[in-house]
Amino acid sequence: MHPRHLMSPLDLSVEELDTMMDLADDIRSHPEKYAHACDGKRLATLFYEPSTRTRLSFEAAMMNLGGTVLGFSSADNSSAAKGESVSDTIRVVSCYADIAAMRHPKEGAPLVASMKSLIPVINAGDGGHQHPTQTLTDLLTIRSLKGHFEGLTIGLCGDLKFGRTVHSLITALSRYHNIQFCLISPPELRVPSYVIEELKEKGIPYAEVVRLDEDTMKGLDILYMTRVQKERFFNEEDYIRMKDFYILDREKLAQAPKDMYIMHPLPRVNEISVEVDDDPRAQYFFQAQCGVYIRSALILTLLGLV
Ligand code: NCD
Repeated sequence: MHPRHLMSPLDLSVEELDTMMDLADDIRSHPEKYAHACDGKRLATLFYEPSTRTRLSFEAAMMNLGGTVLGFSSADNSSAAKGESVSDTIRVVSCYADIAAMRHPKEGAPLVASMKSLIPVINAGDGGHQHPTQTLTDLLTIRSLKGHFEGLTIGLCGDLKFGRTVHSLITALSRYHNIQFCLISPPELRVPSYVIEELKEKGIPYAEVVRLDEDTMKGLDILYMTRVQKERFFNEEDYIRMKDFYILDREKLAQAPKDMYIMHPLPRVNEISVEVDDDPRAQYFFQAQCGVYIRSALILTLLGLV
């Protein structure tokens, strides 16, 4: 039997996503039912790039299921520093663990690893490309807040060029009816053309705008903020010029609809002022919490335990 991997949100059908989100809701409401679901199973977290939420929420997710975890949290702590390929690493890890989550600075590295893997591999972020488990987290958050996806208008703001969470989220949401996107970025950080092509092919309405103002925010159901991805810039000067392009503070938020939720994959830098955190529309910490439930549901699904 070939293991099942997760490289892109499209690796799951809409029906499978629904089932997985139902499972995540059940795990959230009845954690005791699942406390031994992964007894004797091991998760490997292979992180070649920094992470707080993704790695720790994967580990918490597995521990909540009764499983154990092993792995490394930087390339320097692994044999990558000696020149080992991800293919060799995963072949070896396949002997030590039952499932692996991999984050890598190079686009496609988890896919390359999955081709040689004997266990399910989850893409936990590959360069500026995709971040499917953040998308599962985002979908669960949106469904919890709004109850559905149909007919929503989603604003995505910030670094839409390098922000992999944005690419995966647009791809995933594009499968729902009457969805619309408002893409808010500086001209230099627009959504890559391959994502725009997807929207055009599917006939999904979208607008690309530069300003985050009252006019832009009116009609948004969700405003998904992102940080400028410093580590993907070729020169420091460009980063410094862009980094504070958007700052959502209390004054700006006063112009936003009363029912517009604010999300952010985190970490935040300056793009959302801390004074916004107490506003009931700010949902980014709840979003981080959703990450644990959906990752538990994903682990159970890929291990074939549901
Ligand atoms: C995101 C990532 O790694 O792409 N973080 C996360 O996983 N929650 C967003 C970011 O780093 O800006």
